[in-house]
Amino acid sequence: DYMHQIMGLSVLEKQLKETLKLDNIVIVPGDSDKQTQVKQEMGKVCVGFLRENITHSGTIAVTGGTTIAAVADMMTPFDKATCLFVPARGGIGEKEENQANTIAAKMARQANGDYRLLYVPDPLSESSYKTMMKEPAVVEILQMIQGSDIVLHGIGDAITMAKRRKTSNEIIGKLQKEEAVSEAFGYYFNDSGDVVHKVRTIGLHLDDLSDSNHSVITIAGGTSKARAIKSYLKQGRSDLLITDEAAAKTILRDH
Ligand code: G3H
Repeated sequence: DYMHQIMGLSVLEKQLKETLKLDNIVIVPGDSDKQTQVKQEMGKVCVGFLRENITHSGTIAVTGGTTIAAVADMMTPFDKATCLFVPARGGIGEKEENQANTIAAKMARQANGDYRLLYVPDPLSESSYKTMMKEPAVVEILQMIQGSDIVLHGIGDAITMAKRRKTSNEIIGKLQKEEAVSEAFGYYFNDSGDVVHKVRTIGLHLDDLSDSNHSVITIAGGTSKARAIKSYLKQGRSDLLITDEAAAKTILRDH
């Protein structure tokens, strides 16, 4: 029954907090690999958290992916504030509907907020990167991204993400050799949480996250992401993890 299920999840949350050494975790029932509505349930939890905690206007940076897109589906206006939504990173090879730009614009529409977009091709060569970083319009939005109050991000399984983003065979080979297991913000991590590869694009860098001015909300679920979630959280900063029962149980089982 429902009460039993909720109580079961609170026990699971407690165990997962200990295993992942993270104070704030919310687990929703189900497996987002199998049931698409589970991503929306995680999205609802995220929106509920934002509605409760956002008391003044601020900037929210978002990554791409189907999970963060589900957060956008569930987004509603905030009572006390109008927020500005920005993509956390430039394009990292995703389909249009999964791109951070598209998601930022949708969230803004649903929340009656504002948005700014960041158009950068990727992969970006070292020289184009340097040239683009001289553009005042790019610098302006980059400052908004780096000064964001809240960061919403997903985590992916490394090879799944690399293939979805049509990454070259050469890079996929490198990821396999380096035993990459997770991906977030265009960075790829191994089991110990070390960065083994990064997509060169403009936006939030991993170092920016360590600055405590941002609140980082991580949203990722599904059996297939258990190892990836654990890997990212080894070193990656997160103030709140929203996940699902299947990922939680798999992490605890394989621990
Ligand atoms: O960065 C992580 C990925 O964007 C996650 O994508 O939510 O579609 O699994 P996903």
